[in-house]
Amino acid sequence: MSEREHFGSRFAVIMAMAGSAVGLGNIWRFPYMVGEHGGAAFIILYMVASFVLVLPIFFAETIIGRRSRQGTFGAMEKLAPGTGWKWLGLLTVFAPIIILSYYSVVGGWSVEYLYKAVCLDFTNTPPERIQGFFGAFISSSGGPIAVHTIFMLLVAGIVLAGVKRGIERFTKVTMPVLFVLIVVIAIYSVTLPGAKEGVAYLVKPDFSKVDAHAVAAAMGQAFFSLSLGVGTILTYASYMRKDENIFLSGVGTAVSDLLFAILAGFAVMPAVFAAGIAPGAGPGLVFDTLPFIFNKMGAGAPWLSAAIAIVFFLTILVAALTSAISMMEVGVAYLTEEKGLKRATAVLAITAFAWTVGVLCSLSFGPLAEVKLLGNSIFDFLDKLCSDWLLPAGGLLFTLFVGWKMARPDVFDEFTNGGTLKGNVRLFNFVWFLLRYVAPVGIAVVFVTNLVL
Ligand code: PFF
Repeated sequence: MSEREHFGSRFAVIMAMAGSAVGLGNIWRFPYMVGEHGGAAFIILYMVASFVLVLPIFFAETIIGRRSRQGTFGAMEKLAPGTGWKWLGLLTVFAPIIILSYYSVVGGWSVEYLYKAVCLDFTNTPPERIQGFFGAFISSSGGPIAVHTIFMLLVAGIVLAGVKRGIERFTKVTMPVLFVLIVVIAIYSVTLPGAKEGVAYLVKPDFSKVDAHAVAAAMGQAFFSLSLGVGTILTYASYMRKDENIFLSGVGTAVSDLLFAILAGFAVMPAVFAAGIAPGAGPGLVFDTLPFIFNKMGAGAPWLSAAIAIVFFLTILVAALTSAISMMEVGVAYLTEEKGLKRATAVLAITAFAWTVGVLCSLSFGPLAEVKLLGNSIFDFLDKLCSDWLLPAGGLLFTLFVGWKMARPDVFDEFTNGGTLKGNVRLFNFVWFLLRYVAPVGIAVVFVTNLVL
């Protein structure tokens, strides 16, 4: 086997991990979840879920990945040889490839919207026609499949270039730029006439909306948004150097992810209120309503509005790419390390598989809308299967592995870099408690809630 690649610096690790975490989950999913579950109250739930429940799983994945220097399957085999754990590890290789397939469809929509923004379609079209854009586009066949293909090829190209030359180089440059862009859009959005109500919605909690649904949704969102439970962070951690600080990488990633989600909330919600659209409009919120808003605002300042639209959809596209490459890398690590495939062959195999499943997902908004799996369209079925079941199941697997299967001294050694990181030494007992008890119980609650609901 060739020498294993490493990320070059702590900054590179955090940017790659934050790149995986920050994505459509923040810009597309988070705002409509906030809109569906009561605004500020949901944000508070989400913060608690991220730091108490999901951050320990981040530590679990990084501990497994960095200690074993392997992808999920090999990691389990190395740390618990001859046990059945590796097969459970294998399960988490499939989940990110499935997510990649439907994620790429939404990534493709952002390609299409960026193209529309560049062609000034949102600024130059009568408002009545703008509203029909999204529904008409996603229910057609050729267009969405073409942009899904473009998105998939971009992902494959970056992953093909390798961990250091592809993933590290791309995320190190794009992540800081993304933060600047989202801040620019949020400032534009909160200064729109009529935006005040949207800002109030994001900062004044209405706890009457908090029910079991909202709690389960907040936890599911935290898993999805931090890319946990699917071996992505584990695989990236296997490329971390031994002297990196696991605690700081985790907190750095979680804070960036949370900050980005909140900024995305401020970019989207005030604009939604300014245009008089219901915040609970669901998954179409960003794609369906923002062009309408750009169009409306464009009546007064066409160039400014067109520029903001371009920046906005470019932000979504780049954020989606940095997440999608992390999903593909999990499968690539497996196929190259365990099956001895060349990197290019592995990338090709995963691209072909995820592309095919993605085509079915894309068609499920149009010609295949009648095909139902357990009452859901193909797209919805796969999304629910992953975020409600596979991610929490994978998360549970990883915390149980670290908290109950690995020896405590080994976990201590990895978390504290052999006892040299004094801050981590002081935190260890608390983290150990979260890993052994709080996280598994919390995930069990998500499962039971989802089952009952
Ligand atoms: N965290 C990504 C987002 O918020 O868009 C989604 C994601 C990436 C989920 C990687 C799972 C994964 F393995």
